[in-house]
Amino acid sequence: MKSFDVVVIGGGPGGYIAAIRAAQLGFNTACIDEWKGADGKPALGGTCTNVGCIPSKALLQSSENYEQAGHHFAEHGVKVTGLELDLAQMMKRKDKVVKSNNDGIVYLFKKNKITFFHGRGSFGKSASEVVVGEETLQAKQVIVATGSNPRALPGVEFDEKLILSNSGALSIPEVPKRLGVIGAGIIGLEMGSVWRRLGAEVTILEALPAFLGIADEAISKEAAKVFARQGLKIELGVKVGSIERKKTVKVQYNAADNSSKTLECDRLIVSIGRVPNTDGLNAKAVGLKLDERGFIAVDEDCRTSLPNVWAIGDVVRGPMLAHKAEEEGVVVAERIAGQKPHLDFNTIPSVIYTSPEIAWVGRTEQQLKSEGVDYRTGVFPFSANARARALGDTTGLVKFIADSRTDQILGVHILGPFASELISEAVVAMEFRGSAEDIGMIIHAHPSLSEALKDAALGVDKRSLNI
Ligand code: FAD
Ligand code: NAI
Repeated sequence: MKSFDVVVIGGGPGGYIAAIRAAQLGFNTACIDEWKGADGKPALGGTCTNVGCIPSKALLQSSENYEQAGHHFAEHGVKVTGLELDLAQMMKRKDKVVKSNNDGIVYLFKKNKITFFHGRGSFGKSASEVVVGEETLQAKQVIVATGSNPRALPGVEFDEKLILSNSGALSIPEVPKRLGVIGAGIIGLEMGSVWRRLGAEVTILEALPAFLGIADEAISKEAAKVFARQGLKIELGVKVGSIERKKTVKVQYNAADNSSKTLECDRLIVSIGRVPNTDGLNAKAVGLKLDERGFIAVDEDCRTSLPNVWAIGDVVRGPMLAHKAEEEGVVVAERIAGQKPHLDFNTIPSVIYTSPEIAWVGRTEQQLKSEGVDYRTGVFPFSANARARALGDTTGLVKFIADSRTDQILGVHILGPFASELISEAVVAMEFRGSAEDIGMIIHAHPSLSEALKDAALGVDKRSLNI
């Protein structure tokens, strides 16, 4: 029997980062992952690398290039004739990007002397034994990072041909004429954008009456207008009924006004959230407790009901984000080493990689209102930012929310170009408990999009300079 200080089950962003940090801290570490690439070989990186963050961002970039060349280059005086979509090449490139990330993790495992096992890991006779294939590993500490799976509509299985989860949505072999999407959440908006840019008529059906309720209202209202202008049809407040799958897919639903409607489409993406994955772990037999929603129950330090077992990432409570999973991986490895790291959930940024991008950190105005917090806001539109004008990308705004009394930044919300990059400044400021004035006093390069953050921060004290 092979013995390890730390055995990590799952090689997604939570698991592989936990394994690397554990190895850095001197632990003899193993990582088990069952993912198979198209060639049947191991493909480290989990959902994020194989069918999540990475391939979706590759397709978002490629489809945006197509959209820019088709609709926006002319404005810059760049004429394009004979523009053609080579979807097979776009998919090939996406697969190459994924593979280079898979290979990167293999390299990191070798570099850090992490022993990798390909297969399904499950608890053996006790929580100190992990079985993978023919092998039984003795583990002082186990970190479970088994991630999540797409949630299906009751009774409507994914076939990945007509009814697609995120996996199928990333590999449609030809642009569907009519693409239906159920769920106007993050996947619905990102994948809906990809296929709309490539020529599909996209209709998204959303159960909730308000669009993108997780974002600040100022952002979601503006984003709804922008997406409508782009041609994404989003119907809110619907109740999805029966789904008929023949040559096409027919979705019967009740619209917000309660009228019965049918959406007929050539493919349907179902993106209504994800469920934790504890399949085949043998959790129950060793007494590993799950919560009422099926997540592995953990405390704020990711300790489970078993003294030597920890759990991180999508399989535990909290936002299902790769960077949250990674950070929990680091924190757990350090806790095993006796350190006292801390993870602040309030400063985990969220990003939606549509065009324009949406990014935020901290509280929304509606949350602060309901909590009775006294706050001030500063808003700055990208239309007044010189760099955004030069880019030809002036849609959107930056909104700062700061405590009225102390000026401490409570939330920053961005709709606009490179919001995914811009948000980091706000995250740093909030981690250091910075004030809006701090950002307002920092010199930002000119012309840069980040000046919009400075101006919005100054706006909290009604002293934006450029508006
Ligand atoms: P996972 O990445 O799901 O990895 C779990 C791994 O464990 C998998 O490889 C699985 O095969 C393996 N496994 C499971 N059970 C076992 C077992 N018993 N034995 C061995 N192996 C096992 N997040 C972002 O932050 N940014 C984004 O841009 C982003 N884009 C996304 C786009 C899409 C389309 C989707 C679906 C998700 C996206 N996410 C994004 C979310 C992100 O992918 C997840 O939050 C992240 O992958 C969670 O990491 P994890 O390590 O917890 O789990
Ligand atoms: P989501 O939770 O973001 O959105 C699901 C949407 O579906 C919600 O708006 C919900 O109200 C709606 N919905 C639920 N049931 C419905 C029903 N029966 N009919 C109609 N609408 C319904 O989940 P999504 O988009 O599936 O993504 C899963 C998770 O993956 C995200 O929550 C996020 O954590 C992660 N992700 C992150 C990305 C990023 O960081 N850029 C990109 C993609 C996914």
